[in-house]
Amino acid sequence: MIEVNQNYLKLRGSYLFSEIAKRVREYSTMNPEKKIIRLGIGDVTRPLPPAVIEALHKAVDEQASAETFMGYAPDLGYEFLRNTIAENDYRARGCDISPDEIFVSDGAKSDCGNIQEIFSEQARVAVCDPVYPVYVDTNVMSGRAGSFDEAKGIWDRIIYMPCTEKNGFAPELPTEVPDLIYLCFPNNPTGSAITKEALQEWVDYANKNGSVILYDSAYEAYITEEGIPHSIYECEGARECAIELRSFSKKAGFTGLRLGYTVIPRSLVRGGVMLHSLWARRHGTKYNGAPYIVQKAGEAVYTPEGDIQIRENIDYYMRNAKVITDGLMSAGHSVSGGINAPYIWLKTPAGTDSWKFFDTLLHEANVVGTPGVGFGPSGEGYLRLTAFGDYDATIEAVRRIAEM
Ligand SMILES: Cc1ncc(COP(=O)(O)O)c(C=O)c1O
Repeated sequence: MIEVNQNYLKLRGSYLFSEIAKRVREYSTMNPEKKIIRLGIGDVTRPLPPAVIEALHKAVDEQASAETFMGYAPDLGYEFLRNTIAENDYRARGCDISPDEIFVSDGAKSDCGNIQEIFSEQARVAVCDPVYPVYVDTNVMSGRAGSFDEAKGIWDRIIYMPCTEKNGFAPELPTEVPDLIYLCFPNNPTGSAITKEALQEWVDYANKNGSVILYDSAYEAYITEEGIPHSIYECEGARECAIELRSFSKKAGFTGLRLGYTVIPRSLVRGGVMLHSLWARRHGTKYNGAPYIVQKAGEAVYTPEGDIQIRENIDYYMRNAKVITDGLMSAGHSVSGGINAPYIWLKTPAGTDSWKFFDTLLHEANVVGTPGVGFGPSGEGYLRLTAFGDYDATIEAVRRIAEM
C-alpha cells in the first residue's frame, strides 16, 4: 500500500488562526451586541486602484478576439512585465538586475514555499523568531526541520534567530552556520526594518560561508525612512548570494488577483550550479504562469497613475499604523514597528502572556489582534496589530484599548 509523506504528519495544526477564530466566535455568540474590531487581519481592504481595473478590463476584452487572444504565458512571465519590474524596482534603485533574472508568479507565498525544493534535503535552514510560518512549515514538509520540541516550541534542525526587544527585533548572525537563511524585511510580524549597513553584514556573512539568503521583501512598498533598503541587491555582493521574493499583494492590493515574482541573479552559483537554471527548470515543469490579464494589471501598477493610486492606498494604511502607534504609546503601551511596515508589535503588560492579553483585548476592548507567540517562541509577550483595517474603526479600536 502507498505510504503517505510522513513529514506532513509532523506538521503542527494551524493552531493560531483557528484558535483565534474559535475564541472570537465564542465571545460573539455570548455577546451578540458587541461590535468587534479586527486588527488581526493580514489582508488588504482597500479596492484595487482605477488604473489596475482599467488594465484588467482592457486585457479581458482582448481575450474576445482571435487577433489579441492570449494562451499560455511564457515560463518566466511576459516580457512587458519583467522589463517594467527590472526598470522600476531595480535599475531605478541602482540595482543591477536584468529582466531575464525575474520569474513572475502567482505570489510570494507560493514562491517562498516552493523555492526550498531546489536545495538539498540536508540543508540547514535558519529563520527569524518570530517568523512568517510558511518558511518553517514548507521545510517541515520536505523533511529538513527535524523533530518538534514541545517544551521549547521549536524544530530541532532549524536554526532560530531570536528577534527581541534587546536586539531591536533584528536577528544576529548565527554562530552555527546555516545553508539557507530566510530574512524578511520589513518584517512580518514585528514590523521592524533593517538598515542597509546591517543587511550588508548578512550579505558578507552569506558570501563568506557559502550560504544563500532568501530575502522576502513583500512589504518594501511600506518603507518610509531613508537608509532602509528596498531590495537586497542594493548591497554589494548580493548577486552572488541572494534570492529576492516580491509580491503585488500588499503593495497594490493583489491579494485576490495573485501576482508576485522571484529574482535569481545568474551569478548566484552553488556547487558549480546556477540556481537560476534550477528555478527555471522547476518553474517550466511545475508552473504554467500567472494569467495574462493579471500580468497586464501588474504592469499598470508601474504607470504614473497606477503609482500615485497605489501610494494613496499605502498612505491610507500607514495613517492607520500611525494612529495605532501614537495612540497606544500615549496610553503607556510599549509598541514597535508601524513606521516601515503595516504591522505594529505591541508588548503585553508585565506578567501577561500573548494569549491572556489577546483575551483581555477581546473581552474588554472588543478588539482582535494576533498573539505573538503564534509566530514563534520569541513572540511570547507580544501581540501583532495590523494597519489594514478601516480608518475610523482603527481610531475606535485604539480609543478602546487606551481606555482599558
Ligand atoms: C512575509 C510575507 N511573505 C509573503 C506573503 C504572501 O504574499 P502573497 O500574497 O504574494 O502570496 C505574506 C503575506 O501575508 C507575507 O507576510
